Amino acid sequence: MSATSKRHNQESDVPPRRRASGALLRCSILVAALSITALFISRSNELNSHSYALCSPHDSQNIFTVDSVNSRVQCILVDKSQITRTGTLEHILHHRQGSMPVLNLLNKLRAPLAVRYIPLGAIVVPGLSDSHAHILEYGSTLQLPLEGTKTVNETVARVRNYILSNTDVHSNTSLWIHAQGWDHTAWPSQAWPTAVRQIILVKSPRDDSNSSSFFLQADLDSDPIIRGRPVVLQSKDCHALWVSQRALEFSLPFPEEVEGGVIIRDASGNPTGTLGPVSFGVIVLLTTSHDTGMLLDNAQELVKQPKLLENDLAKRFNSTIQEAVKYGLTSIHDAGLDPISLKFFKEEAQRKTLPIRIYGMTYFDENGEYWGNTTKPLIATGDERLTARSVKIFADGALRTGGAALHEPYADNPITNGFMRLDKEVLFKYIPLFLRDGWQVNVHAIGDRANGIVLDAFEASLTGQTCSGLEGSESLQASSPLMRKLTAQLPFNVTLTLYPNSISDMLYAEDRLGPERVKNLYAFRTLIESGARITLGSDAPVESLNPLSGFYAAVSRLTPQGDSPHGPDGWFPDQRLTREEALRGMTIDPAYASFTESILGSLEVGKRADYVVFSRDIMSIPVDQILSTQVLATAVDGDFVYGSV
Ligand SMILES: *[C@@H]1O[C@H](CO)[C@@H](O)[C@H](O)[C@H]1NC(C)=O
Ligand SMILES: *[C@@H]1O[C@H](CO)[C@@H](O)[C@H](O)[C@H]1NC(C)=O
Ligand SMILES: *[C@@H]1O[C@H](CO)[C@@H](O)[C@H](O)[C@H]1NC(C)=O
Ligand SMILES: *[C@@H]1O[C@H](CO)[C@@H](O)[C@H](O)[C@H]1NC(C)=O
Ligand SMILES: *[C@@H]1O[C@H](CO)[C@@H](O)[C@H](O)[C@H]1NC(C)=O
Ligand SMILES: *[C@@H]1O[C@H](CO)[C@@H](O)[C@H](O)[C@H]1NC(C)=O
Ligand SMILES: [Zn+2]
Repeated sequence: MSATSKRHNQESDVPPRRRASGALLRCSILVAALSITALFISRSNELNSHSYALCSPHDSQNIFTVDSVNSRVQCILVDKSQITRTGTLEHILHHRQGSMPVLNLLNKLRAPLAVRYIPLGAIVVPGLSDSHAHILEYGSTLQLPLEGTKTVNETVARVRNYILSNTDVHSNTSLWIHAQGWDHTAWPSQAWPTAVRQIILVKSPRDDSNSSSFFLQADLDSDPIIRGRPVVLQSKDCHALWVSQRALEFSLPFPEEVEGGVIIRDASGNPTGTLGPVSFGVIVLLTTSHDTGMLLDNAQELVKQPKLLENDLAKRFNSTIQEAVKYGLTSIHDAGLDPISLKFFKEEAQRKTLPIRIYGMTYFDENGEYWGNTTKPLIATGDERLTARSVKIFADGALRTGGAALHEPYADNPITNGFMRLDKEVLFKYIPLFLRDGWQVNVHAIGDRANGIVLDAFEASLTGQTCSGLEGSESLQASSPLMRKLTAQLPFNVTLTLYPNSISDMLYAEDRLGPERVKNLYAFRTLIESGARITLGSDAPVESLNPLSGFYAAVSRLTPQGDSPHGPDGWFPDQRLTREEALRGMTIDPAYASFTESILGSLEVGKRADYVVFSRDIMSIPVDQILSTQVLATAVDGDFVYGSV
């Protein structure tokens, strides 16, 4: 789970509509006059195709509006990109005729209203939104998936097969290969992969002297197809890199130590000391080493990689979008844009080729120049498809790799409490600046210590001055009761982004945290009761992008196979979300967290017609049928981007 975002802004508490109402009214008169003319001129099919009623059959009310009281209706009327009416079919037809005689006349000229019926048993919900994912990184994992490998060798074999099955890659040995998703904790050895697998001491037969030879055999370079290619493989939680010898060569020499990171060096096979640490195989750059208790993360930045080409970005983007719409996603909050991906999305928005909505958080680099007052937040460009008004700051590492900053030591590695990736002072300095300059601030904070510090920094920022921009966010994973109390007493509203899929951590979490602290992990119900608002994210590619799998995990607290360390009732079942809470967490709550609740997140009059048709009623079917439910159609602005009804 993770990020929380708070809203606190005197200005934005005023509904934007109301503030601008004078201007809006004037505009709409003008627009109405123009559109009557347009109606007379173009009584075309095109116009009709953009106006239709979407209904559930036989008077059923299978459209879940997710309005403030979770109403269900039979139909919605979609006119171009907007929802203009909701209710029974009769109600909608009546409305369409309007009350003014001139409108009735106009309607007679129009072809009959198209009514699209969803199949019996199917339901409609607002377009789903993922509050935290990594779009291009996920696209990369679709191309070379490393998830689920059971051994180092299997992982290596996937890279090999990827090369063999892509002729453009195979034919060019200098092409960089990037992939993500390996998880050493799922391997039998649980050991990090190595750049140098083993040192074989061989007595050379032709050598009379008693000198020995070293044969370096790296995990990646042991494969003849991979050998010599630059390969960079990131771990599932994105906190460790496993690189090939060739990829390393571009980045050498490495410093002895890295602040906020660790370079793992294999020390076991260096009997003579003749091999320097580098040739000996610096391999894994990761968050933590249980052998040394040292923690690393920032070490990843030492690996110099070439910039991705436009075509690479487009391929990744396309792969993600194809999956996203298949899953019913109409909006993704990208929790980590860099200048290259931001530029790519901006161009897509300008060309009006963004099929879904993207809400971007731009990475903060404490070593770079402060950009909050030189870069303008991007708001609702490309017909409300792209917004980039948020900054993403990393406070600590991840639980899986033992990098989350805790108050008390890890249960399975008591010499460490995890670590902060930046100084507390950096948060206290930059959060107020970004807020001052109109940015939402998202802070990745997993451990209770990190969360405490982050909340303190927000509190200091928000009470110490008036800010014009706003929203903050941070994660809360290993939360302590103290931390939650703090949350409840803050002088602003907190929205927590939860990652229900990460509940898969239940399989090892107690080892890391011990029997008491583990109760605070993914304590969804406790968090809601603390008064915080929640919103749900996948953190794809760390976990599956499929929102139904998050929905399932949130309401069941089970693995996809239907079990848990506490049995078939779920892991700490009291902490389950209700289905309504989970659905809101994927629709209206993410809209709120991205300042779009007035146009997105529910199927109400005046909102954009973003919706999903599910084959079954996920709000009432048995839990074990949720994951096999199909998305029949996904629409953005009233147009189908996947399937149709
Ligand atoms: C917090 O949320 C409540 C309920 O939605 C709202 O009335 C209040 O204005 C919010 N406070 C701030 C500081 O945003
Ligand atoms: C892994 O692959 C290497 C090289 O192909 C091989 O020598 C080794 O036996 C394999 N290990 C396992 C556990 O399969
Ligand atoms: C191989 O890839 C490299 C790196 O992207 C590129 O500079 C080079 O032009 C490519 N070579 C060929 C023959 O395509
Ligand atoms: C070879 O081994 C012998 C005995 O182990 C040792 O005395 C000698 O110094 C070694 N020679 C070299 C060149 O290392
Ligand atoms: C991505 O998809 C768009 C639209 O479907 C297509 O025009 C473009 O060629 C694709 N780009 C790549 C690199 O696959
Ligand atoms: C941006 O903000 C920083 C920090 O407050 C300040 O030092 C700098 O002068 C500002 N730059 C501009 C262009 O306003
Ligand atoms: Zn993330």
